[in-house]
Amino acid sequence: MAFNILISDPLSEEGIQPLRDAEDMNIVIDTTLTPEELADQIGAYDALLVRSQTQVTREVISKASKLKIIGRAGVGVDNIDLDAATEHGIIVVNAPNGNTNSAAEHTMAMIMSLSRNIPQAYHALKNHKWDRKKFVGVELKNKTLGVIGLGRIGTEVTVRAKGQRMNVIAYDPFLTEEKADKMGIGYGTIQEVLEKADFITIHTPLLKETKHLINASAFQQMKTGVQIVNCARGGIIDEEALYDAIVSKKVAGAALDVFEEEPFVDHKLLDLPEVIATPHLGASTFEAQESVAVDVSHDVVRFLTGDLVKNP
Ligand code: NAD
Ligand code: MLT
Repeated sequence: MAFNILISDPLSEEGIQPLRDAEDMNIVIDTTLTPEELADQIGAYDALLVRSQTQVTREVISKASKLKIIGRAGVGVDNIDLDAATEHGIIVVNAPNGNTNSAAEHTMAMIMSLSRNIPQAYHALKNHKWDRKKFVGVELKNKTLGVIGLGRIGTEVTVRAKGQRMNVIAYDPFLTEEKADKMGIGYGTIQEVLEKADFITIHTPLLKETKHLINASAFQQMKTGVQIVNCARGGIIDEEALYDAIVSKKVAGAALDVFEEEPFVDHKLLDLPEVIATPHLGASTFEAQESVAVDVSHDVVRFLTGDLVKNP
């Protein structure tokens, strides 16, 4: 029996080799489908592989009469309607480990860029302006990094921040004092983290509970002059509240890789010099892209050939 597989977001070619190596897999790669075209065509497929761009909505799933498995090459499954998939008996697998390092490294790059105004200074110099006074930064050594969400990426960021001689304090509902002690970090409620941190970095999933977790009242609790990084998911920070907090000088800088709506090109946050931004690049390394695609491709092959998925 042959299986039809649709890949609707750009995936690493090496990463999809396990699908090519398996028998009886007809692979179609089309990364240009509109939501309407996807809904029209999905009925022909047994498996769908996506990154974060394709929105696998209830409407798409309702038309997916043959679909057995959705593979998400990456961590966040917030672009897939999980309830609708479950109702239709469609399994959803992701690749939770493959881009952890890359996302942690990107977060550190953002923290270091923020602390030394590197993007702003680069921009000025490229415009032929030699301005040293404007871009005086702060050291990371002895500053407190507040980590909200101490899962895979939050933990890797913590290790790197300690390498920069930062003090780390974390909040995660599953973090215990004992584990924090073992890691050599502080542990607190979210309020304590917000109050104590000089830099805050967010590493939670986007859930009902974390939507606008960082809102106007959270900004009120932070130190004046705090700098904040979001390489997790847009929507965890309330962008309007962030804008107000920067304009009122409560927040001295923000580094954003993810946004409530992507692509994010026309927002007033981008006009603030205190905001540095990248277009959802946290997992965009050759290593991570190969790794997440390999992981998810193997799982799709395993599942379609009657084996157990590993969700590695
Ligand atoms: P993970 O599941 O390993 O860790 C998430 C942690 O958040 C868990 O420990 C969980 O207990 C904690 N958490 C849940 N609700 C919380 C709350 N209300 N307050 C505090 N902590 C809470 O996930 P991960 O692999 O570390 O990924 C973290 C985030 O990064 C996800 O949103 C993921 O989609 C995103 N991500 C982004 C990129 C990128 O390209 N920018 C790349 C990879 C992952
Ligand atoms: C993820 O959740 O894995 C990241 O957002 C990276 C991505 O796939 O774009």
